[in-house]
Amino acid sequence: MTDDRTYEEKLAEFEARIERGEKIEPGDWMPDEYRRQLIRMISQHAHSEVVGMLPEGAWIPHAPSLRRKMILIAKVQDEGGHGQYLYHAAESLGVDREELIEALLAGKAKYSNVFNYPTLTWADIGMIGWLVDGAAIKNQTMLAHSSYGPYSRAMVRICAEETFHYKQGKEMITLYAKGTPEQRQMAQDALNRWWWPALMMFGPPDSQSIHTETLMRWKIKIKTNDQLRQEFINEIVPEFLALGLEIPDPDLHYDEETGNWVIGEIDWDEFWRVIRGNGPMNRDRLAARREAHEKGKWVREALEAYAQRQAQAA
Ligand code: 3HC
Repeated sequence: MTDDRTYEEKLAEFEARIERGEKIEPGDWMPDEYRRQLIRMISQHAHSEVVGMLPEGAWIPHAPSLRRKMILIAKVQDEGGHGQYLYHAAESLGVDREELIEALLAGKAKYSNVFNYPTLTWADIGMIGWLVDGAAIKNQTMLAHSSYGPYSRAMVRICAEETFHYKQGKEMITLYAKGTPEQRQMAQDALNRWWWPALMMFGPPDSQSIHTETLMRWKIKIKTNDQLRQEFINEIVPEFLALGLEIPDPDLHYDEETGNWVIGEIDWDEFWRVIRGNGPMNRDRLAARREAHEKGKWVREALEAYAQRQAQAA
């Protein structure tokens, strides 16, 4: 059946559907820019999950107990699975997963800034769980309301698993903050190093965000970078202060009028430097991903050969 509507009529109906709170599904009409924005965001999200396995994966052999090792193995495996959900969601928009992965391995695709920092002590693993996964949950809970069906549904599943990631990290840091002076210092050092990169995860300030207006118009995002960042700060600052940990921001203060914890200036030069490939660990992360991709080549070839043999036998 041909669709005789003009582009303007199709766009008007598309936007009316979004206003009614309907989910846009893969086979539905959508503006090319809606599709492009989703491919951009979802592929970066998927890359972030897979690269995000590396900082924590490095500590699996050094976990201080079998319990901690099992928890960390489960978490890292979850992140790999999140990457798969998200690559599938990206494929529902008509892109080829291999192309997305090739772009990542070639250093042409972005992934979250936060994974370009080193994990120097075991307390970093707890801080990543509490602070980084906590920030990710804040962002992903919002994305669970996204207008694109496959993305919003992937978020529901991912957020359920992230909650475990957050809780295990919070438990670990709480133990260290109440532990020996050395453990307490380790937790404070980790907060000092992960605080600002975690706040940058929410993206540049709204004034510098080139995509937010389009994403908000079509409800791909329903809150802006600054809104989410402020909500997260308001929730997590009291939790760290309750443990007697210090937030590494001399300008941090509570504004009675707005009810907000007001932070000092974020170093956006650092943010742009890191996401343009010049962070402390960018090269190491890409080298590790390239090596893993090369080592996994035989698995992909075996699966391909099996699929072809099945097709011939059918
Ligand atoms: N890291 C890397 N790049 C970032 C970034 C970040 N934290 N924030 C913004 N950018 C990039 C954008 O991708 C864009 O570049 P591009 O045009 O080349 O794509 C540019 O900076 C401008 O930023 P905008 O604010 O205009 O971009 P967005 O509106 O897309 O906002 C975002 C950025 C908040 C990251 C948004 O894309 C988003 O919500 N993405 C989905 C969630 C996601 O990717 N989370 C990553 C964390 S996953 C994770 O933490 C795993 C967990 O298990 C720990």
